[in-house]
Amino acid sequence: MDNFLDKVAVITGGASGIGLAVAEALAAEGARLVLADIEQAALDDAVASFEEAGVAVTGMRTDVSSREDIVALADHAFDVGGGVDIVFNNAGVAVFGAIQDMTQQDWAWTMNVNVWGPIHGIEVFVPRMIEQGRGGHVLFTASFAGLVANRELGAYNVSKAAVVAMAESLRKDVREHNIGVSVLCPMRVQSNIDLSARNRPDELGGSAANRTYTAEELEALDGRLIDTAPVAALVLDAMRRNDLYIHTHQEAATYFQRRADRISDAFKHAL
Ligand SMILES: NC(=O)c1ccc[n+]([C@@H]2O[C@H](COP(=O)([O-])OP(=O)(O)OC[C@H]3O[C@@H](n4cnc5c(N)ncnc54)[C@H](O)[C@@H]3O)[C@@H](O)[C@H]2O)c1
Repeated sequence: MDNFLDKVAVITGGASGIGLAVAEALAAEGARLVLADIEQAALDDAVASFEEAGVAVTGMRTDVSSREDIVALADHAFDVGGGVDIVFNNAGVAVFGAIQDMTQQDWAWTMNVNVWGPIHGIEVFVPRMIEQGRGGHVLFTASFAGLVANRELGAYNVSKAAVVAMAESLRKDVREHNIGVSVLCPMRVQSNIDLSARNRPDELGGSAANRTYTAEELEALDGRLIDTAPVAALVLDAMRRNDLYIHTHQEAATYFQRRADRISDAFKHAL
């Protein structure tokens, strides 16, 4: 996709962080926005500030873990936009902690949002995009944790590896429909992700059940903390080139190489 003028972009988790920054970057290129987020107040604020700037925008409160919500979002987006060109499956949450310490509710919440969210995005939006016959682009936010597992991020690593696999699969399966696919794999980006607990439903333990990193753990993390705006610029450039993988941190490359080498070396024992 080489220009975004009048394109209709649906962005989940569009009221904060990476989703909001990509919305801003797309709006600056003349795209029309459909923002979806579970947080009504943040969504209202985002929509109001886009409207003030003269951007064509609508917002719809959406819980991506609910298939019904995603169906309603798609109905709304195809209706108000007259079609959909970009779907950004971005909403995500993090529960910190070792994989062996993850509770059933930690797993359920992580998988419901991070894995079922983008699954619903594929199932509900992609056949309609194919049917409308005007190509488009499907974006996902995974994480570098989906390529190389982080310590103390058990369920999150698993969920984000699934998102990478979803993007890789979709890329192969929609190529002939002129639909591009990209997956964003960031290390740390300045956002509200460390405050994910704010959106944890009571039936899955509520915010008090969510472990967050301590200040010392945050300090010890590898990689720079990058702002959302340059990340959004990378996302638009990757869509223009139809790159599958979008990396944000050069320093991540060595960690990936070590993983690739470990997998590759193990073939010496293969039959
Ligand atoms: N910030 C980072 O360091 C980082 C690194 C790698 C990957 N990511 C991923 O980036 C994506 C965006 O997160 P962010 O860093 O901008 O954090 P953020 O918390 O600032 O934004 C996430 C948005 O998703 C929304 N959301 C949460 N649960 C939802 C649900 N069930 N349905 C709909 N919306 C929901 C939140 O209200 C919020 O507006 C996530 O998938 C996250 O896992 C972030």
